[in-house]
Amino acid sequence: MHFQWYPGHMTKAVRGMREDIKLIDVVIELVDARCPMSSKNPDIDDIAKNKSRILLLNKADMADEKVTAQWKKYYENQGFFVHAVNSTKRNELKIVNSLIQSACKEKIERDRKRGILNRPVRAMIVGIPNVGKSTFINSFSGKACTKTGNKPGVTKGKQWVRINKSVELLDTPGILWPKFEDQTVGLRLAFIGSIKEELLQRVEISLDFIDFVRETYPGTLKEKYSVEEIGEASDILMKIAENRNFVKKGNEIDYEKAAATILDEFRHTKLGRITVERPQES
Ligand code: G4P
Repeated sequence: MHFQWYPGHMTKAVRGMREDIKLIDVVIELVDARCPMSSKNPDIDDIAKNKSRILLLNKADMADEKVTAQWKKYYENQGFFVHAVNSTKRNELKIVNSLIQSACKEKIERDRKRGILNRPVRAMIVGIPNVGKSTFINSFSGKACTKTGNKPGVTKGKQWVRINKSVELLDTPGILWPKFEDQTVGLRLAFIGSIKEELLQRVEISLDFIDFVRETYPGTLKEKYSVEEIGEASDILMKIAENRNFVKKGNEIDYEKAAATILDEFRHTKLGRITVERPQES
């Protein structure tokens, strides 16, 4: 199975990000808590080297809490300041302020020694498409925020959102692309719906998903679709289609519809909170 991602935009995106990053103190990277490795582009580690790094396991409300805790440890061991968040809940993002203060402790201390007091820390959000960057920026900045910069005749350039007296956020996120050297990365991103699958691939993706779920979360398919989790994944898909009465014209089984249904229900957390990769496998 081959997945494509707009490679033409890559160079431009990286160039822009390298410029933006010069202006900021801390990079806040969003990854999807359901696949925190596959939804992370390792190139950011180079682009953001020498910067304070925060990693947010976003959409944590959809992920398996136990595994999220493992990922938190995993990335903390790599030197990130890590937190699991649900960006749609403004209240849950308050913690990010203290995370920023901890991540920028050295810079704040350096400023203080130079007599610079209360200079806000400048932060930037980065992440792959659909990971929740805009949602995070909206929730984190809230309605009461004030925009600075880019006023006519004053400063031309970046828009900064003043979060509070100690943090300013660049209002345009840095978009990263997923890295596809390994096909399992593409597959996991396809599971969570981060890359558009072709109609033809949907059945194949769902078969891989069925195999993954029955092994890692046994009982889930049985409970949701009343199927026995034995035999080939294609048999299970067929049973699901039958149970849901998915038939095409001519009484043919509609595998595509069954595949789309499983993936859609997973992506809307109707199969429960499922994480598709674990730290030790990656
Ligand atoms: P982006 O800027 O990084 O591209 O992502 P964006 O904020 O647009 O978020 C993509 C989708 O993910 C949105 O759903 C958004 O509501 C959802 N989302 C973001 N953060 C969280 C989170 O922490 N928890 C949950 N449950 N959802 C989150 P959408 O507009 O409905 O799009 P879709 O669901 O149709 O993809």
